[in-house]
Amino acid sequence: MKKVGLLTGGGDCPGLNAAIRAVVRKATSVNWEVLGIKNGWKGLIEGNVEPLTKYSVSGILPKGGTILGTSRTNPFKDYENTQKLLDNFKRYELNGIIAIGGEDTLGVAMRLYKEYSIPVIGIPKTIDNDIAGTDLTFGFDTAVSIVTESIDRLHSTAESHHRIMVVEVMGRHAGWIATISGIAGGADIILVPETPFDINNVCNILTKRHEKGKHFSIVVVAEGATPKGSEIVITQSNQKDEFGHVRLGGIGSVLAQEIEKRTGIETRVTILGYIQRGGTPTAFDRVLATRYGVLAMELMAKGEVGKMVALRGNKVIAIDLDKDAVKPKTLDMELYKVAELFFG
Ligand code: F6P
Repeated sequence: MKKVGLLTGGGDCPGLNAAIRAVVRKATSVNWEVLGIKNGWKGLIEGNVEPLTKYSVSGILPKGGTILGTSRTNPFKDYENTQKLLDNFKRYELNGIIAIGGEDTLGVAMRLYKEYSIPVIGIPKTIDNDIAGTDLTFGFDTAVSIVTESIDRLHSTAESHHRIMVVEVMGRHAGWIATISGIAGGADIILVPETPFDINNVCNILTKRHEKGKHFSIVVVAEGATPKGSEIVITQSNQKDEFGHVRLGGIGSVLAQEIEKRTGIETRVTILGYIQRGGTPTAFDRVLATRYGVLAMELMAKGEVGKMVALRGNKVIAIDLDKDAVKPKTLDMELYKVAELFFG
């Protein structure tokens, strides 16, 4: 019987378990075994694995997180780890690997395929929706619904207290979560990493709105947004992970203080943080993750490897797992223009 290794890497997101379940169900139907690799690439380096069966993955569909665990381990950071990973691939008699991840995890999968001829299939996930090869990653829809509900809740308290509420959301270097949730939640200003903001302009919009009798405002800011003139991203920690990323966060507090100082209007900040990544996936994410998982395993069984599954329009398709597929996808600025119409 042929055997595929399955792992989840990078930040977790809702829908990972739905994808795992789908891969296992499809594998069972085509007579393949699935070996679950724990904690991303780390599990294949350390030999931390567990067989997955149709029965062991039953009931996980609505659960948040990943039953396999995850990590930001980069096996190419250290030559010895690359070798250990390759040895374990042979030792477990794997015929291929399905890697569920974002830009970093998929980048590793791509290198394993191109440089070491390991048969791989990539499944794109991330709440940030910032992978170029696909219209949507799963996890994003759930994050958007959490942020939208939060904005709705913040609206009522902002209105009662006549305050400005700054809501900081995730999205590293892309303003997808901020923009889509901001449109859905009726934000009065949305600030994204793709376009540095002018603090004078932000304060003018808010002051004018308050002068016109709207004594509350919602400002949604993506964690990677920066003010014009000082394009330094605010970080919680400058310590880099194995893929070279620092931990972002904090722009919301800085912005709230500055707005209050300049406008004289009482301003508060809410940093949504990991709430956006936790918990049960929406129906949309469950279905997208399921479709991705089924196609990924189908491709693996057919030997059509070196591919990434992707959503284009309403169709789930296979594309080449190359640099263009895994590179970051920044915000569609046409969408931002739609959001801007509702500022103030
Ligand atoms: O999953 C992507 C993401 O949510 C980014 O938006 C965020 O900057 C990052 O993960 C934080 O993840 P962690 O603290 O788990 O490394």
